[in-house]
Amino acid sequence: MVDTVQDKAVVVTGAGGGIGAALARRFAAEGARVVVNDLDAAKAEAVAAEIDGIAVPGDASEIVDHARVALGGHIDIYCANAGLASGGTEAADEQIWADAWDVNVMAHVRAARALLPGWLERGEGRFVSTVSAAGLLTMVGAAPYSVTKHGAYAFAEWLSLTYRHRGIKVHAICPQGVRTDMLTAAGSAGELVLAPTAIEPEDVADALFDGIEEGRFLILPHPAVADYYGARAAAPDRWLDNMNHIQQKWEAAQ
Ligand SMILES: NC(=O)c1ccc[n+]([C@@H]2O[C@H](COP(=O)([O-])OP(=O)(O)OC[C@H]3O[C@@H](n4cnc5c(N)ncnc54)[C@H](O)[C@@H]3O)[C@@H](O)[C@H]2O)c1
Repeated sequence: MVDTVQDKAVVVTGAGGGIGAALARRFAAEGARVVVNDLDAAKAEAVAAEIDGIAVPGDASEIVDHARVALGGHIDIYCANAGLASGGTEAADEQIWADAWDVNVMAHVRAARALLPGWLERGEGRFVSTVSAAGLLTMVGAAPYSVTKHGAYAFAEWLSLTYRHRGIKVHAICPQGVRTDMLTAAGSAGELVLAPTAIEPEDVADALFDGIEEGRFLILPHPAVADYYGARAAAPDRWLDNMNHIQQKWEAAQ
């Protein structure tokens, strides 16, 4: 048991399946009271029933107040997990870019806006952002996803550096491939880049709980991402050449 989690009031967005469902199950197993949010009400209700949680369906951007009431007036831990795997190039429709920005970034900003006043008053609160390795690196074939996940990472980083002396803990989870519906939907680029090292959603939950115990901001369920992130910073052009080789391999396989 992680004592920072037992009896805590937790919200997980996009928890009707995949990584969010694994996080919700793990928080419940550790003794937390969990709100299970998803746009898909039936999926949210199924996971909530399984873990004795509370389903709060709806758009992740709009559920903080409802979730707070459902949990008795206070949220201790908020997992901004819902995300859109928005693929495409610069030519992707305006709507695809707008939806990616809305779900992958602004839902986090709106949640923080609703949570921070109470958390700062109490001097504690924990914000968990499911970003992606694409937020530290970049995903071939997915410009809106890569750009907005960089935004989600930047926002989590900003929250952490701004409020860490006031009791606010922030974690940014940055996995590569995880075997969920989203990986299946990522198509041939996902097959090439992500599938070979894909892990299970439960592995992501394990990595988060290790990070919570160790008080770490950056959660890397695939440890090799630290090396790639370092290589990108140290030698950007060499890193871009390597990524471009993957792009060319992907183009050749189409
Ligand atoms: N699967 C991967 O390989 C992978 C890798 C890195 C990061 N991620 C990130 O992990 C998070 C979860 O993804 P997943 O792989 O579990 O995907 P998933 O598709 O299995 O689950 C995402 C869930 O979010 C819900 N959702 C979508 N938009 C929503 C909204 N506006 N409000 C509430 N719920 C909404 C969907 O209905 C779905 O149940 C995402 O942020 C994703 O970008 C996934």
